[in-house]
Amino acid sequence: MKPEQAKAEIEKLTEKINHHNDLYYQQNRTEISDLEFDKLLEKLIALEEEFPQFKDSHSPTQRVGGTVTKEFATVYHKYPMLSLSNTYSQEELEDFDGRVAKALDGEAYEYFCELKFDGVSISLTYENGLLTRGVTRGDGVRGDDVTANVMTVRNIPLKAKGKNVPPAFEVRGEVFMPKHAFQQLNKEREDIGEEKYANARNTTSGTLKMQNSAEVARRKLDCFAYYLLGDETGLKTHEESIHKLESWRFNVSPTYKKCKNIQEVLEYIQHWENKRQELPLETDGVVIKVNSLEQQRQLGFTAKSPRWAIAYKYKAQSISTRLNGITYQVGRTGAVTPVAELEPVFLAGTTVKRASLHNANEIARLDLRIGDYVYVEKGGEIIPKVTGVEMEKRPKGSAPVVYIDKCPECGTKLVRVEGEAAFYCPNLDGCPPQIRGRIEHFIQRKAMDIDSLGEKTIEQLHLLGLVKSPADLYDLKKEDLLRLEGFKEKSAQNLLAGIDKSREVPFESVLFAIGIRYVGKTVAEKLARYFKTIEKVAAASKEELLAAPEIGEKIAQTVFDYFRNPESQREIARLKAAGLHFESTAKEPEKESDVLGNKSFVISGVFEKYEREELQEIILKNGGRVLSSVSGKLDYLLAGDNMGPSKREKAEKLGVTIISELDFEKLMKG
Ligand code: IVH
Repeated sequence: MKPEQAKAEIEKLTEKINHHNDLYYQQNRTEISDLEFDKLLEKLIALEEEFPQFKDSHSPTQRVGGTVTKEFATVYHKYPMLSLSNTYSQEELEDFDGRVAKALDGEAYEYFCELKFDGVSISLTYENGLLTRGVTRGDGVRGDDVTANVMTVRNIPLKAKGKNVPPAFEVRGEVFMPKHAFQQLNKEREDIGEEKYANARNTTSGTLKMQNSAEVARRKLDCFAYYLLGDETGLKTHEESIHKLESWRFNVSPTYKKCKNIQEVLEYIQHWENKRQELPLETDGVVIKVNSLEQQRQLGFTAKSPRWAIAYKYKAQSISTRLNGITYQVGRTGAVTPVAELEPVFLAGTTVKRASLHNANEIARLDLRIGDYVYVEKGGEIIPKVTGVEMEKRPKGSAPVVYIDKCPECGTKLVRVEGEAAFYCPNLDGCPPQIRGRIEHFIQRKAMDIDSLGEKTIEQLHLLGLVKSPADLYDLKKEDLLRLEGFKEKSAQNLLAGIDKSREVPFESVLFAIGIRYVGKTVAEKLARYFKTIEKVAAASKEELLAAPEIGEKIAQTVFDYFRNPESQREIARLKAAGLHFESTAKEPEKESDVLGNKSFVISGVFEKYEREELQEIILKNGGRVLSSVSGKLDYLLAGDNMGPSKREKAEKLGVTIISELDFEKLMKG
């Protein structure tokens, strides 16, 4: 493609993508499928890579991330980010209203109510309509510059568009992880045997501080804007500023309301007390702001917070009920989770019968006894949790709960891995929920995508002794399926066709499907791309696994162990015989030169211009080798920032040449 053609195409694609983004995020509508959208984005990414001179710094491709920030710069806020004074009581709210009335000396005033979003506050700076900086609250005076990560949040406009956009302004808002995204993330973690995150807010906070913005993009954060600051906005009320934000394409929660007096504020609070559970994010109260900006100026600030606003916090909804028993669930990885079986009780809009108890330590910490009356709370967590015991009601003669020592499903003695809170059932191949779990994992959409197979069918297939491992699926015959409840000629044929079609699934999905602990979809993709074939992954030493991009100690160990287990070896052999793909079809990177002359490199730390993965690729394409650990035989240690001191010491001791990114570029020039 000629440059002028590329330029026009980049502009056309940018406009198209922005249009679809707007539809999706501002109007909740779609005109094209996700797949079509991703294709447009991929096309733009490819063109921008080929013609970087035409890449706009605020291109929608920024949303995909890819920037690696080693350390977030601390920057000063132009306007300090104050907190709000809090209250839990109606009286204190009425006192606040009294103070406002008094300070305004008889002038009429109105309030503007919004929900208090439970996320992480963010300051967004715009210059000439472009998002130039995203900063966390920090200590209120200085925060962390997390711009690259903020740019991946799809409903934060990279360009503010609309009428009268001032040359410079700042928007405050709350970045959050929607409930469904949080559940999804936890499901994915559970799926690969990682511990689940406890709540969405802390996860959001951790996500915003991740070094690789591509990972942030995958986490699907959102943002609600609730405050506009600037010298020349020409606005008179907070309400106007909220409407302005909406018109400039910021995402504003439609739950706000202007209230004429404190009575209306109290009604608003009551209205949302339970209804807020239906919202897509966690909220923990209501923020009440004096609407007139002039009156806000009159009221001013205390050292910590504005006098014109207050946060009313809902009490964490809690209730006491009887602990009837404790049951234990066994997951795909064999991890055992205790569950409190409760006397059903109505709490915050739903009947609660069960609550998570996390692990044995939590039961001991709460000193639980069967028959106790326990406090159950619905807080930031979606699943209710037990927070304490009502001691006065403790039944006489009760004894502390003794944690089970045998698997409730198969009777095998449980084990505990050092450093982990959970107990595990080690009976991988004989414990029913582990077997069913592995098959459910294998057939899921992101894996082999056999959608005609549901949980019920899997259970039946297992009960009838037809399927004990994923490989058994490929031996199923029509006669077998006709033995299943509700199965007829047609449904049996459909299922067999689904199984047959899964043979086309690419290697990276197969590698994910076989269910190696900690190997999620992204890791499977990385391994498949790096090693190309299952034989190479299986034969890799721990060292060689560690040399693959983004593979750490924990994953390297589980992958290594998996392929040394005779049971896994048999399973892989059978899946291979069934015709599944065990070889990557992705193209080999073309060799560019031999300038590095078979020299070996260890890459460590974070780099200014390149991601580690990029450096690896450059080395491999130019005749070098990449190793993971420093030894006497190593030629170069390519050192970035934040490299562990022990690596440097070892290299120095062994006389290995330590080179910087710049030195490497010189080497590449030959
Ligand atoms: S207004 C000058 N509105 O609550 C005060 N804050 O305790 C500007 N928050 O750090 C804040 N929802 O992170 C405002 N609708 C809302 C909010 C909100 C959540 C958070 C914000 C702030 C904290 C104050």
